Amino acid sequence: MDVKAILADKRALVEEALKSYMLKAEGPLADHIAAMRYSLFAGGKRVRPILCLAVAEALGANPKPLLPLCCALECIHTYSLIHDDLPAMDNDDLRRGIPTNHKKFGEAAAILAGDGLLSYAFELLTLPELNATLPPADQVRIVHLVAKAIGPLGMVGGQALDLDAEGKAIPFEALRRIHRCKTGALITAAVQTGAIGGQADAQQFAALTGFGEHLGLAFQIVDDLLNVEGTTEQLGKAAGSDAARQKAAYPAFFGVEKTRAMAMEAVDAALAALGNFDQRADFLRELARYIYTRTT
Ligand code: IPE
Ligand code: IPE
Ligand code: MG
Ligand code: MG
Repeated sequence: MDVKAILADKRALVEEALKSYMLKAEGPLADHIAAMRYSLFAGGKRVRPILCLAVAEALGANPKPLLPLCCALECIHTYSLIHDDLPAMDNDDLRRGIPTNHKKFGEAAAILAGDGLLSYAFELLTLPELNATLPPADQVRIVHLVAKAIGPLGMVGGQALDLDAEGKAIPFEALRRIHRCKTGALITAAVQTGAIGGQADAQQFAALTGFGEHLGLAFQIVDDLLNVEGTTEQLGKAAGSDAARQKAAYPAFFGVEKTRAMAMEAVDAALAALGNFDQRADFLRELARYIYTRTT
């Protein structure tokens, strides 16, 4: 399997969908929309939408009708990055290889660009045209699941815990909770919504949920590792910032070597959760391995 080529194809599909579904920077709101587009089209890896598509494919479904859902996931992720970088949060100047949204447009415009992307995601999740391919009950389930994943008990809660833990000694369970919430929850939701779109039965849904949870944790552990081992040029965002801000991160707890082993363990657990899936899940398996080996 040529994983790189499949990844590139899927990225192109997501890119095209984002271009068609995203608002155009024109009219009286051109500046606000331009700020949203600036971060959205700055070249992210598109991991969450690709996961969603790959899960639907693993279940034998045509993933194309899920593209608005994929765009919504990417809008939400991009909003989280814009707000994560704000001076009151991680205070970063570089993201996706270009100045952060607030550096380019100012803080107020960046806050609103994030708010705009978050709200627009829910417009995309409930597009009337989705009715043709996704039963309304499934759509409601998806909206509920996404809202829960990114809210106070998920991503936003994780961000609150992350900020609160800066400069403090916290127990390992608290570190793992931060990672599961701030990053794992949206990744799990990408997997679960792909499962709903692919008409997973209850057993498949449970297995895929486990897959998403392990993979989501692995994703943030690798993010922590890259923050230590990567360079700013390679990452397109500041390397070494976790140590500088005394962030709750795996390498500070366990050192680099043990952290890498723990990331591998989480990926292995994710792969084990796919035990009952046939070869249609092979790309999903490769995606899990890619998340471990990635360098950006
Ligand atoms: C970075 O996410 C922030 C985390 C949640 C770890 P990604 O590594 O997916 O960033 P992009 O989308 O490729 O820029
Ligand atoms: C990002 O966590 C989590 C969210 C944006 C929800 P980090 O702050 O660790 O990610 P980077 O390293 O800035 O991308
Ligand atoms: Mg952060
Ligand atoms: Mg950050």
